[in-house]
Amino acid sequence: MSVSQEAAPAPPLETDEDVLRVENIVKRFGSVVALDGTTLHLRRGEVLGLIGDNGAGKSTLIKIITGFHRPDGGRIVVEGRDVQLRSVPQARALGIETVYQDLALVDSLSVFHNMFLGKELRLAGSPLVANRSMKERARRYLEDMKVNVTSVDVEVGLLSGGQRQAIAIARAVYSNVKILLLDEPLAAMGAREAKQILDLIRRLKERREVSMIIISHTYAQIMDVCDRVDLLRRGRIVFDKRVEDTSLEELTELVVSEYRGGEEPPG
Ligand SMILES: Nc1ncnc2c1ncn2[C@@H]1O[C@H](COP(=O)(O)OP(=O)(O)OP(=O)(O)O)[C@@H](O)[C@H]1O
Ligand SMILES: [Mg+2]
Repeated sequence: MSVSQEAAPAPPLETDEDVLRVENIVKRFGSVVALDGTTLHLRRGEVLGLIGDNGAGKSTLIKIITGFHRPDGGRIVVEGRDVQLRSVPQARALGIETVYQDLALVDSLSVFHNMFLGKELRLAGSPLVANRSMKERARRYLEDMKVNVTSVDVEVGLLSGGQRQAIAIARAVYSNVKILLLDEPLAAMGAREAKQILDLIRRLKERREVSMIIISHTYAQIMDVCDRVDLLRRGRIVFDKRVEDTSLEELTELVVSEYRGGEEPPG
C-alpha cells in the first residue's frame, strides 16, 4: 500500500489551523461536471455541514477527499501540506476516514471483531489474534463514547441501523482519525437512532480532536451539530456561514430557490 506521505513529519500548521483545504477541485464523469472548481476549508476540531440538492456533487467531493476518486484538477492540502490522494488506504494513513451508511461492517462478525477489522491485535510474537484484548478495548471504546450495545460479542447483523452506524463511527475514531467524513449518516434512520448518532457526534465535537464534514439533507440536524455550513450547488460552494449566522429558514430557502431559477446563472 502506498503511504508515501506518512514518512516525513508534517510541517507546522499554518496560523489559520485548517486541517484540510480543498482548492478548485474539478471532477468530470464523461460529459458530467460533478465538481466545477470546489473550494472549501475545514478547521481543526470544526464540524462542517455540507448541504446541497441531489446531484450537487457532495458525495463526489467526499470520495475525492477520501482517496476513492482522483480529481481532474485542483489541490488538496492536509495539515498544511499538498497531498496527492491516490487511494483510500493512503488517505486513511493521513488520518482521513469516511463512514458510509452500513458500509464496511461484517454482519456475521461480532461487534469487537468489527471494531478491529483489518487491524486485529495479535498476541506478542504470535500470528494469533488477541481476542481478549480486542474485546476489552472495544468495550472501553464504546463505553467511552456512550455507544450502547448489550455485548461486544453480539453479531453486528443483529443490531439496529443506529447501533451499526455508531460502531462504524467509533471504529473510525479509534483508528487515529483526524478528519472524519460522514455522508448522510442519519439517512433512513428513525428519530431515536438519529438522536443516538447526533449525541455521539456532539460528544466527539466536545473533544475537538476530530474535525468533521457531515452531509445531510436534514437541515435541522446540520443546525444542531455543526459549527458552519457550506452549500454546494452544481459543483461549487456558493454559501458559507457559521450556523449562528444562519437559520433553518435560510438554508431551506437557499435550496428551494434553485427551482425557482432566476438568481443563478445557468449551467
Ligand atoms: N461514478 C460516477 N459515474 C458517473 N457519474 C457520476 C458518478 N458519481 C457521481 N456522478 C454524477 O456526478 C454528479 C454529482 O453526484 P453526487 O453523487 O456527488 O451528488 P450528491 O450531491 O451526493 O447527491 P445526493 O444528495 O443525491 O447524494 C451527479 O450528476 C451524478 O450523476
Ligand atoms: Mg450523495
